Amino acid sequence: MTDSLPEVAAVVLAAGKSTRMKSATAKVLHPIMGKPMLAYVLDTLQSLGLGKILVVVGHQAEAVQARFAGYAVDFVVQEPQLGTGHAVQIAAGALKSGFGTIIVLCGDVPLLQGETIRQLYQHHVASGAVATVLTVELPEPGSYGRIVKDEQGRVLKIVEARDASPAELSIREINTGIYCFQFAFLQAALQTLRPDNDQGELYLTDVIGAARARHLPVASLLTTDQASFQGINTRVELAAVAARVRQQINERHLLAGVTLIDPQTTYIEAGVAIGADTVIFPNCYLQGQTVIGEACLLEPNVKISDSRIGNRVTIKMGTVITDSRVADEVQLGPYAHLRPLSDIRERAKVGNFVETKKTVLHAGAKANHLTYLGDAEVGENVNVGAGTITCNYDGKHKYKTTIAPGAFIGSNSALVAPVTIGAGAYVGAGSVITEDVPPEKLAIARGRQVIKDIRKK
Ligand code: UD1
Ligand code: CA
Repeated sequence: MTDSLPEVAAVVLAAGKSTRMKSATAKVLHPIMGKPMLAYVLDTLQSLGLGKILVVVGHQAEAVQARFAGYAVDFVVQEPQLGTGHAVQIAAGALKSGFGTIIVLCGDVPLLQGETIRQLYQHHVASGAVATVLTVELPEPGSYGRIVKDEQGRVLKIVEARDASPAELSIREINTGIYCFQFAFLQAALQTLRPDNDQGELYLTDVIGAARARHLPVASLLTTDQASFQGINTRVELAAVAARVRQQINERHLLAGVTLIDPQTTYIEAGVAIGADTVIFPNCYLQGQTVIGEACLLEPNVKISDSRIGNRVTIKMGTVITDSRVADEVQLGPYAHLRPLSDIRERAKVGNFVETKKTVLHAGAKANHLTYLGDAEVGENVNVGAGTITCNYDGKHKYKTTIAPGAFIGSNSALVAPVTIGAGAYVGAGSVITEDVPPEKLAIARGRQVIKDIRKK
């Protein structure tokens, strides 16, 4: 973005209990397309170049702080939580002077845009007000605080819905909970708050009335950023916001040249990158730090987490990939399962009902049907026959299987690790291999076929 605002500090309120979520997890940690709610707010604030970002935590303070340890933000603990005014009192006490302006917002408004905050700040400075509140008009203002104005249209006070008179309740302009304050005024006004309301809390909103009582100028900015006020208090609202975020993410990929056959049923988390000309069929889930190359094909019901996929990769229906790497022109599935640390190199093939774990399939290797490859190194152009199993686990430890380049493993073989199959070697179908097979040799390890007469009555 444009200029930074070093003289401005932001206070993010995130200490509340959020009873309405009915959750053991702190509200601001609930993920929205793979990213915690609070991360949206903090990322937006960080883009503004503010002098300081201070997050007020309380309920599950340790968990919230631990999750955001890597962020350039400070925390202050509010304990107990006695209302939004009390939260800002604690924050103001922790802020050193040197900040002319304080922006206050909530940790549960993830869709708020940086540009809206900037506009609020500019309006605040231009109007010379001691306090400026961001408002929005709603046809059904519900439980939001109402903006009460005088005949000249100047803000008189904010009244909570539960404390409002019938006339006040009919006001459709509401408090988004996002404000700019002159710091010196705020510090003084916070001292005047009293818990004389329905909840017995210290309300930050009463600071507005306090300014008017002292004949200080208060301003408001009616925003058209309809998403800015959309706080999350229930899981209904969480789902609605998540749907909106999902749509935004999908639109970004569509505009960048990715085909989504049905964006309504495509689930791409915030941190995923996808190359142009990749085609994604319905019900795919792309999660975490996944990177997908160009011109790939993802058939329906593919789920990929924290993995890197190369270019021109075909991933057929029902394939699941976790924490793995897939090189260019690989073919996977249908119904392949790449468990963590699978490393599938160029042009290799992993077919239906094949599971890999901590396994390298070198270039051109194939495991096309019904196979388990765990803790294995499979050389270039190896052919792993249907039903092959690496027996990598003896109940206590894991052991490695090495299949050297060009080897051919006959169907339904069990390779009991640790074991090495030499380059160009053959394993006869149905073998249980317990000893190394030298290069260019044929190993057969199974009962010999016998033919017997059948006694018939
Ligand atoms: C608040 C406003 C209301 C506004 C609405 C917008 C007040 C009194 N009311 O109501 O005018 O329309 O936001 O969404 O401010 N919090 C703390 N510590 C506390 C209490 C709350 O950090 O002691 C945090 C919460 O975690 C939350 C935010 O402050 O992030 C707002 O608190 P909440 O109780 O949700 O206020 P609302 O009733 O939504
Ligand atoms: Ca709220």
